[in-house]
Amino acid sequence: MNAAQRLLAAATLAWLAAPAPAQPSGEDLYRTYCAQCHGLQGNGKGINVRDMSVQPRDHTDSKYMAGRTDDELRTAVVEGGQALSKSVLMPPWGSVLEPQEVDALVAYMRELCDCQHGRP
Ligand code: HEC
Repeated sequence: MNAAQRLLAAATLAWLAAPAPAQPSGEDLYRTYCAQCHGLQGNGKGINVRDMSVQPRDHTDSKYMAGRTDDELRTAVVEGGQALSKSVLMPPWGSVLEPQEVDALVAYMRELCDCQHGRP
């Protein structure tokens, strides 16, 4: 296994081990699927980062996050980093998450950065 595959395996294991509440909030989803890379605080310092050649995005960075539209964030989550010419270390979640779960995650990232597109 290469590093990317190991990370994906770790992400999958975290997913399998996590309980699945009926209607998870954006924060619940983030903790389950994203925190191992992006960190529990969303600051890009998850447990995986030591081994990662490209560091996960800091979702609390309001300056950067204000430069992204909600659609861009949605595309990153659904199709992965590659869809935006970013790192394949950001996995695609489209086969795992329902559209409303992706929306909840986008809303939660807006809470983390305390920003909107164009308004840091
Ligand atoms: C296996 C590690 C990993 C996991 C798990 C992960 N990400 Fe990422 N993510 C990354 C990395 C690495 C980048 C940076 C890619 C780059 O800048 O090239 C990134 C970037 C992003 C970006 C920024 C794209 C941009 O416009 O710069 C968003 C949004 C994002 N992740 C959301 C999420 C969400 C939401 C989840 C959970 C559903 C998640 N990520 C799970 C590794 C991960």
